[in-house]
Amino acid sequence: MERVMGGGVLQLVLLSAGILLLYRILVRLRPGADLQDAVVVITGASSGLGKECARVFHTAGARLVLCGRDAARLQQVVQELTASSTSSGPQTYTPSTVTFDLSDTDTVDGAAEEILKCYGQVDVLINNAGISYRGNILDTHLSVQRDVMETNYFGTIALTQALLPSMVHRRSGHIVVISSVQGKIAIPYRSAYAASKHATQAYFDCLRAEIEHCGIPVTVISPGYIRTSLSVNAVTGDGSKYGVLDKTTAAGRDPRDVAQAVLKAVHRKSKDVVLAGPQPNLAIYLRTMWPALFFKLMSSRARKERKPKDE
Ligand SMILES: NC(=O)c1ccc[n+]([C@@H]2O[C@H](COP(=O)([O-])OP(=O)(O)OC[C@H]3O[C@@H](n4cnc5c(N)ncnc54)[C@H](OP(=O)(O)O)[C@@H]3O)[C@@H](O)[C@H]2O)c1
Repeated sequence: MERVMGGGVLQLVLLSAGILLLYRILVRLRPGADLQDAVVVITGASSGLGKECARVFHTAGARLVLCGRDAARLQQVVQELTASSTSSGPQTYTPSTVTFDLSDTDTVDGAAEEILKCYGQVDVLINNAGISYRGNILDTHLSVQRDVMETNYFGTIALTQALLPSMVHRRSGHIVVISSVQGKIAIPYRSAYAASKHATQAYFDCLRAEIEHCGIPVTVISPGYIRTSLSVNAVTGDGSKYGVLDKTTAAGRDPRDVAQAVLKAVHRKSKDVVLAGPQPNLAIYLRTMWPALFFKLMSSRARKERKPKDE
């Protein structure tokens, strides 16, 4: 009788241990679970997608380093995040901030040192900061083409190259870049922006192949329109601010959903993710498989958007 009871207790203990193990595995498989205590650097964290990424990675328990040009706006984000922290769920940390201008590449090495000093390492670098552009190539100063490139491309790769050696040394880390559908296809009146995002895609595709053997994944994320101030902050051909919330941007995806998708891509160590609906995906497909049709469609789009003075 005692032996039968003993066997029953053993079965119960084994079953409970099995359920606990399964629960732990499921929790670990949940996107974000692997980010507890991870050091995550986010550029352009003061607004839009960067700010929402800060929110989701903070909630997942990451130790954040938030970057931007405006110290006061970054502090505002820190305050919002710490005020939203709850006692349930993963342990959260008060984010650190580092203020610098990505377009001034001479200062990026110093900023990278400051970033490394925050926690001694970087586990995930999310290159998110960027500016957009609206304009006609004929009326656009070369300096504007260069400025957009400085922020979106040179600033981004300068920071990546400054932080990369510490990742390679530890043989650990993850590099993420927020590109755009316009890194895959170029649409008229966006030359500076599309060119900077195409360059970004190419650079990070090369980097992925070159550092795979170090165990450092590279994730390129290419969203379609997101409801942020990107178009408001865009520059025009003479360098002035565009200042308009475009209808396409206003109707774009919720930045909170895009930030969740970024978290998932980091968890899965995805290589290349397009976060867009069927139409942009079809356009990307046509650009490779049927370029003649793609070019016709873009010419027609340019004709429709052309202003009378451009005729
Ligand atoms: N919104 C869209 O429709 C869309 C679509 C596809 C891809 N994206 C990409 O998503 C990323 C985030 O943009 P968003 O939509 O969130 O726009 P946003 O609200 O205008 O945010 C841009 C961020 O970049 C920072 N930034 C701009 N220039 C900088 C510089 N020179 N140095 C340092 N930081 C700088 C800004 O910070 P400070 O001004 O405070 O410095 C701001 O936090 C960009 O890479 C953009 O290309 C956006």
